[in-house]
Amino acid sequence: MDKQHSVFSGIQPTGELHLGNYLGAVANWVRLQDNYDCRYCVVDLHAMTMPYDIAELRANTENMLIGLLACGIDPARANLCLQSLVPEHTELQWVFSCVCAYGDLMRQTQFKDKMDQLEGQQGAFISAGLFTYPVLQAADILLYRADYVPVGKDQEQHLELSREIARRFNFQFGEFFPEPRALATPTPKVLSLADPTRKMSKSLGPKHYVGLFEEEKSVRAKVRSAVTDTGEGAGEGMSPGVENLFSLLAACGDPAVHAALLKEYEAGNRRYALLKDAVADALVALTSRLRARRAEIAADVPGMWKQVRAMSEVSRDAARATLREVRKLTGLPSL
Ligand code: TRP
Repeated sequence: MDKQHSVFSGIQPTGELHLGNYLGAVANWVRLQDNYDCRYCVVDLHAMTMPYDIAELRANTENMLIGLLACGIDPARANLCLQSLVPEHTELQWVFSCVCAYGDLMRQTQFKDKMDQLEGQQGAFISAGLFTYPVLQAADILLYRADYVPVGKDQEQHLELSREIARRFNFQFGEFFPEPRALATPTPKVLSLADPTRKMSKSLGPKHYVGLFEEEKSVRAKVRSAVTDTGEGAGEGMSPGVENLFSLLAACGDPAVHAALLKEYEAGNRRYALLKDAVADALVALTSRLRARRAEIAADVPGMWKQVRAMSEVSRDAARATLREVRKLTGLPSL
């Protein structure tokens, strides 16, 4: 493969990576490194759109960079940069703010959902940055003229807006930005262990997610107490909780064990204790491996930063080249 197509994706520094982030996104990013010219970005500027704690943002950013490297984002094969170290992201965002229709931003469901959540809270602050969040995301992607963006369902509307921004820019100033496409790769839907009707997420609370670097004991405890059948409707189809356990096993475990347990289930032997043991074993193997890798990287944090700064510098070169063209096309003087 000659890596002729480029991939870009971003992740907010949320603190701790969990299985949902890993199986739903990051593991896929790792696989793409072999076949595409990949650039991954920790989007710390996006994390400023909601009120936040300063020390926490610092710690979360560092943790996310270490976590991604531990998962196998490999500086020899891909670029891992930090959004705020490439100020061209925000410069291009301004240009795009003037190309993007106000009405299109109003129609973003993520913004509307956040507004609904926040409006119920007393004294909630809604920043203009939260509103223009998707414009910054479009700048992230188009700054590197990325061909593909691996994104989940929840980001499809933002990606469509990026395409619309590219089209409007091209129409107004001349053909320049390629329209980025979604890279749809089948990823398992990872649900909360404690409430398998909802997506695994940190915001639901600690019993709802399994941290990627979590210790064996708590991983086992969480899997053991995972919700399976609720009693009613047993014998109908597979319940969401059981399906979630099987899908975790399929993603992380031994295929033979998965097949054997599925056969048992289909024969009517609902031995959830065995299923849970198998899932716990698979998750413990994965988290132990990743935790060991994480410890190696965390042993040299200044070295990690040096590497990320160097990669961000490489990104800056590409970003500056784009901005030079954008300045020309839009009638601004060159720097
Ligand atoms: N909005 C994305 C999320 O919350 C993160 C993100 C920012 C992103 N910029 C991006 C994803 C560019 C893909 C491409 O998941």
